[in-house]
Amino acid sequence: MTVDAVLGRGFGHGKVILVGEHAVVHGHPALAAGISAGIAAEARAGAGVLRVPAWDLSAAIGDGTPVGRALEAIVRRIEAPGLDFDAEARIPSRAGLGSSAALATAVARAAAAAVGRTDAEAVDAAVTAAEEVFHGSPSGIDAAAARSGLCGRFTRASGWRPVPVLQKITLCVGLSGRPRDTAAQVAAVGRLRDRLPAAGEVLALLGRLADDAAAALAKGDVDGLGRIMDAAHGLLAALRLSSPELEALVHGARAAGAVGAKLTGAGGGGAVIALAPAHERDVLARWRAAGYDGFLADIVAAAPSGGGA
Ligand code: MEV
Repeated sequence: MTVDAVLGRGFGHGKVILVGEHAVVHGHPALAAGISAGIAAEARAGAGVLRVPAWDLSAAIGDGTPVGRALEAIVRRIEAPGLDFDAEARIPSRAGLGSSAALATAVARAAAAAVGRTDAEAVDAAVTAAEEVFHGSPSGIDAAAARSGLCGRFTRASGWRPVPVLQKITLCVGLSGRPRDTAAQVAAVGRLRDRLPAAGEVLALLGRLADDAAAALAKGDVDGLGRIMDAAHGLLAALRLSSPELEALVHGARAAGAVGAKLTGAGGGGAVIALAPAHERDVLARWRAAGYDGFLADIVAAAPSGGGA
């Protein structure tokens, strides 16, 4: 049992990409939102160990694992040696919900709080360094959403810009049960784009749909947002990012009354989001009957409480 005093706490939000995953890697916009579920971390005096019991995960600086290397990158950037971290994860890992960025954000904020650092730049640099360990050269959208917890438009050039949300939007999140591998999926899309120039146009169209989706959100046009999500899923499938499980989740959601459904995140496995006003419970029940777990996540217009450092 851990009895040492807590020296710092931090929180990182899970995220969903509403529209524009992969497009954002290639310079186009994407629309994403932090969700209230995420990861809370506590820092105590220790020797550089990170424990995440919900994921059955324990790693240490110097153990050579990706998590151990990411932890080392964080504590070096924050200049916070001699700490252990305990993290409570309320999102699944490797499901396309930004779990690595949420964990890095929670740990970096807890480390910064433990040593009394208040500069957000140090936390940002630490999270970026950790994300590079996991994903090579990520666009940065997951880290931005993990920090913000709100809805935002992101491009590599301009970063994260908050997007107004007229009314609370409830999304159904369905889990395929198959882990996704972001770096592999990003590399596969890059290869496809080299061999099939039209794939570049598909990515540009996904970016345009991200801006259309932001406009729909700002107007409170839920049906319009649903149609855009359906179109985006078709385009992502054209890039070979779907899977039998993701298709079952998308089609199950539509059959249960969703006005739109799509894969979210890197694809290949991971999660699906569905917009089903007044039919959210029907969608979750349909997924459960088909053997898939799911939960509800709100896209909110104001910051949820309980943030970290
Ligand atoms: C992963 O959540 C989103 C991708 O666009 C990769 C990235 O932006 O780094 C697939």
